[in-house]
Amino acid sequence: MESRLDRMVARLATQRACLNHAADLMGAVPGPILELGLGKGRTWSHLVQLFPNRDIFAFDHSLHAPPDLTPPANLLLLGDLRETLEKSKSRFGGSVALIHADIGTADGQGELGDTDLELACFVGDCAAALLAPGGLLVGDREMRPAGDLAFERLPLPVAGLPADLPPWPYFIFRFGNA
Ligand SMILES: C[S@@+](CC[C@H](N)C(=O)[O-])C[C@H]1O[C@@H](n2cnc3c(N)ncnc32)[C@H](O)[C@@H]1O
Repeated sequence: MESRLDRMVARLATQRACLNHAADLMGAVPGPILELGLGKGRTWSHLVQLFPNRDIFAFDHSLHAPPDLTPPANLLLLGDLRETLEKSKSRFGGSVALIHADIGTADGQGELGDTDLELACFVGDCAAALLAPGGLLVGDREMRPAGDLAFERLPLPVAGLPADLPPWPYFIFRFGNA
C-alpha cells in the first residue's frame, strides 16, 4: 500500500509529465492558457516555465499562493469559477490553447462527490466554448463524458511518470480538429 508521500509524489509527477506532454501536443496552436486552481502556484509556475511567451490567466476562489508565485493582477481572476469562467467565455471564447484544471478538493482518488462532479461537468462545458480548435483540456477530473465527439481523450504520457507507483488519475482531451 502506498504512503501519503508516495501518493503526493505520484500526483505531482503526473501533473508535471502531463503539462510537459501538453506543451508538445499543443504545437503551434495559438492563444492564451487558463490555469484553473492557482492554489500554491506550483503548476502555474511550471506553465510559466513551459510557455514564457503566452498569457497565462490564473483562477481561484482566493489568493493563497506565496508572493513569488502570484501572477500579475491583470492575469489573476479571483472568485468562484462558476462566475469567473462563465464570464470568461465572452472574453476568450474559441481562442484558448490550453486549459489546465487542478480543482479537486479531495486527494484525487475514490468517488467524486456531487460538488466535484458538478464542477468538473461545468468546466468541461465551458471548455467547449473557450478552446481553440486543437486546444487541450488537461485536468484532475474526467471533465468530458465518454463519447463526446467534440473532444478526443488522449493517452497519458509515459515519460516522467514514476515507474514504481501506480498511475495517478489525470485526463488529457483535445478539442475539435487541429
Ligand atoms: C489542488 S488546489 C490547486 C493546486 C495548484 N494547482 C498548485 O499546483 O499549487 C485546488 C484549488 O482549486 C480552487 N478551487 C476549487 N474549487 C473552486 C471554485 N469553484 N472556484 C474557484 N476556485 C476553486 C481551490 O481554492 C484550490 O486553491
